[in-house]
Amino acid sequence: MGESTAGRRILVASNRGPVSFTRRDNGELEARRGGGGLVSGLSSVTSQGSVHWVCAALSEADRAAIARSPGGLLDLQGGAPDSAVQMLDIPVTIFDRAYNTVANSVLWFVHHMLYDTPNRPVFGFGFRRDWDAYREYNAAFARALAAAAGDPGSGPIRTVVQDYHLTLVPRMLAELRPGVKIAHFSHTPWAPVDYYRLLPDHVAREVLDGMLGADHVGFLSQRWADAFCDSCEAVLGAAVDRDAQRISYRGKLTGVGVHPLGVDAGELTSRAAEPDVRAKMATLAELAGGRKLIVRVDRTELSKNIVRGLAAYRELLITHPEWRGNVMMLALAYPSRHDLAEYRDYAAQVERTAREIEDEFATPGWTPLVMRASDDYPGSLAGYRLADVLLVNPIRDGMNLVAKEGPVLSDRGCALVLSREAGAAAELGDDAIMINPFDVTGTAAALQEALTMPQDERAARCRSLARAAAAVPPALWFASQLAALDEPPRG
Ligand code: G6P
Repeated sequence: MGESTAGRRILVASNRGPVSFTRRDNGELEARRGGGGLVSGLSSVTSQGSVHWVCAALSEADRAAIARSPGGLLDLQGGAPDSAVQMLDIPVTIFDRAYNTVANSVLWFVHHMLYDTPNRPVFGFGFRRDWDAYREYNAAFARALAAAAGDPGSGPIRTVVQDYHLTLVPRMLAELRPGVKIAHFSHTPWAPVDYYRLLPDHVAREVLDGMLGADHVGFLSQRWADAFCDSCEAVLGAAVDRDAQRISYRGKLTGVGVHPLGVDAGELTSRAAEPDVRAKMATLAELAGGRKLIVRVDRTELSKNIVRGLAAYRELLITHPEWRGNVMMLALAYPSRHDLAEYRDYAAQVERTAREIEDEFATPGWTPLVMRASDDYPGSLAGYRLADVLLVNPIRDGMNLVAKEGPVLSDRGCALVLSREAGAAAELGDDAIMINPFDVTGTAAALQEALTMPQDERAARCRSLARAAAAVPPALWFASQLAALDEPPRG
C-alpha cells in the first residue's frame, strides 16, 4: 500500500470479521482467525495503518466475547496501535433473517443462479418481514460506521464495505455522515439482468440504490461489473457510461472498477513449507502410492458443483478403464452454512455420490476417492503441492482462489481444469483446460486431457498460471480500490 494511505483511517465493514470465537469444553472462549476468501483478502489491510473493522457477532461465543470487552472493541491482530474490531451484537432473530435468509438464501442464490425456478424462489409475507430485518441489520452497520467516522471535521475517512450482506450500507452511511468516501466491493458474481429481476421489484431497486450510495463499486471481473451496469440501467434507469466506467444516479456519480484478487505467493509458499503441511504430504503420498492425483478443495457449497465433479470422475473411470488402479481423487469439502437445509442436503448428496464411487470401483488394493469433510488447511496445502491435476468446476464463482493457490504451490506443475464460469477464468483461461461446468462428459474429457498432458507442457503452463495468480496479491488489490476511491469525481 502506498504512502497515500499512511496515517489515514480506514473503516472496513463485513459480515464475517477477522476474528471469531469458539467455546472450549471447559467453557473458556478461544479466538480464531475468521475464515473465507473475503477475510483472507482483507487481512492485508490490518498492517497498513489505522483500521476500524466493523463486523457482526456470528455466534453465542462471539456475543459473549463482546459482552466482556470494553466498549465492545476487540484487538485487531497485527493492526496498528489504534486499530480495532467492532463486533455488532445484532439481535439473533434479525441477524438470522438478514444473514441466513436474505443474504445467503436469496442474494447469494440470485448471483450464483442457484434456484430451481419451477419451485423457488417464493417471495411471500415471510420475505417482506425478512427484508425488513436485512434493512435493520444494514442500518446497524451504517450507524456503527458513522459513529466510528466521527465528526466531519476529523479528517478524511475512507470506508470499504464488503459484499452482498451489506448492499444498503453505502446509501445509509452517506446520508448519516456526508463526506465519508465509500467503496463497496462484491466478492460474488453479479447476476444477468433477467435473473436479477427474480427479486421483488422494490428489493431489486433498493439493493442497487443502496450500492450507488458509494463513490466506487468494485468487482472481481469485468463480466460481473458489466452485469451490474446492466442491472442499474434496466432496473433503475440509471445513466451508465461504459467507456468511463461510471454510473450517474440521483445526482451522484459512482465509479465502477474491476479489481481481481490474487494470492500472496511468498506468504503462501512459506506457510506450505511448514512441518504440519509436510506431515500431511507424507500421509497423502503414501495413500496415493505413486498414482496420479486429482485434487479438489472447496467449501461444501452449492455453487462449487462438487457432485458433477464427482460424476465426471466416475465417467472418466468408465470411459478410460486404464485409469482404474492408477489414479486417485482427493476431495476436500469443508463444512459451510450448515444452518441452511439446502446446504445440509447438498453435503449429504456429496457424501452419497462419493460412497457410490467407492462401492462401484474400489478394489482391495486401490482407493479411487478420498473424501474429507472437515476443515483442514494444512491438508489442502499438502494436496495443492502434490496434485497432478486440480479440478475447479464451479457453476458460478466470483473469483475462486483455489484455482490460484494450487498452481502457486504445485511441486511438479499441475494441470488446471477450470470452469469458464469462475471469475478466475479471465486471468487463467489461456493456460487452464476450460470446461462448461454443467457438461459432465466434457469435464471427464478435460480430466483425461489433463492426466495425459506431457510433463513439460504441464509444468510450463503451471508456471504461467502461478505468475498470473500472484500478479495482484491482496495488498495490491486493496490499494487499487483505495486509489480508485481517491480519484477526483469525474463529471
Ligand atoms: C464467500 C463470500 C464471503 C464469505 C464466504 C464464506 O466467499 O463472498 O463474503 O465470507 O463466502 O461464507 P460465510 O457465509 O461462511 O461467511
